[in-house]
Amino acid sequence: MTIRHFLTLHDLSTDEIHQVIDLAIALKAAHREGRQEPVFAGKVLGMIFEKSSTRTRVSFEAGMAQLGGDALFLSPNDTQLGRGEPIEDSARVISRMLDIIMIRTFGHDKIEKFAANSKVPVINALTDEYHPCQLLADIQTFVEHRGSMQGKTVAWIGDGNNMCHSWINAAMKLDFKLNIACPEGYEPNAELMAQAGQRVTITNDPVVAVAGAHLVTTDVFASMGQEDEQQVRLEHFANYQVNHELISHAADDVLFMHCLPAHRDEEVSAELLEDESISVVWDEAENRLHAQKALMVFLLEASGLV
Ligand code: CP
Ligand code: NVA
Repeated sequence: MTIRHFLTLHDLSTDEIHQVIDLAIALKAAHREGRQEPVFAGKVLGMIFEKSSTRTRVSFEAGMAQLGGDALFLSPNDTQLGRGEPIEDSARVISRMLDIIMIRTFGHDKIEKFAANSKVPVINALTDEYHPCQLLADIQTFVEHRGSMQGKTVAWIGDGNNMCHSWINAAMKLDFKLNIACPEGYEPNAELMAQAGQRVTITNDPVVAVAGAHLVTTDVFASMGQEDEQQVRLEHFANYQVNHELISHAADDVLFMHCLPAHRDEEVSAELLEDESISVVWDEAENRLHAQKALMVFLLEASGLV
């Protein structure tokens, strides 16, 4: 059986994404009702983090434990990965000992190289280019609040970053319209935009992007690894704050999402972030737990490893 990895949303078919979201919703109910099966008994998840994390680490580690498995936190500071052991060698060794591995790193090529040398499923827990696990939680959150995303309009306001790229992939997989508003010089990857075709549009005007949107979403102006650009980005993104005024141009039943951590009164106003009639960021954060449990079940089953 082929080992199934999850490096971007394109590693799942549209049907498989729906299958994972349905399972995430079922696992969420099971979790709330205290009736979880130890389907991961004897399984160990490796968690390689080369960047900081709260949600990703807590959700993967807790999710594994809740389904009867174990998780191992591996930091480059304490492993030979941080001392230059080749990724290919690390992947071959670690994947002979563990059952599934998640990696948060910088270049997407690193995770591709790791996966190519791994005997077990590898999950992208954020690279500079993509953050597909967050998208599973975001899709689950939309589905729970509003139903299918097909035919809906999503507005992405801000940087053409890893989250924006994953939203572009989601638009392709789930057939919704994505309007991106970003300042000049901060556009998403041009090749990915071309692949997405007409369902993804780009503008410099947040009001144009938000018009009629059923979901408005954003992210920090400076991502991890770009801390020294924070000041200049604050200037370039000054007109890109999502707040009640901007969101008044969206559909009446609009939702607001943010992958978090948020910088209040920078990319989103504190008032909007806390307005739970629109903002579903806490459900979205919680759904990382359920969506990733479902993803791990799916990948292990599809790879013939459970
Ligand atoms: N949204 C997200 O991935 O959060 P963390 O960086 O805290 O994991
Ligand atoms: N774009 C952000 C997402 C954090 C979850 C970053 O890469 O830092």
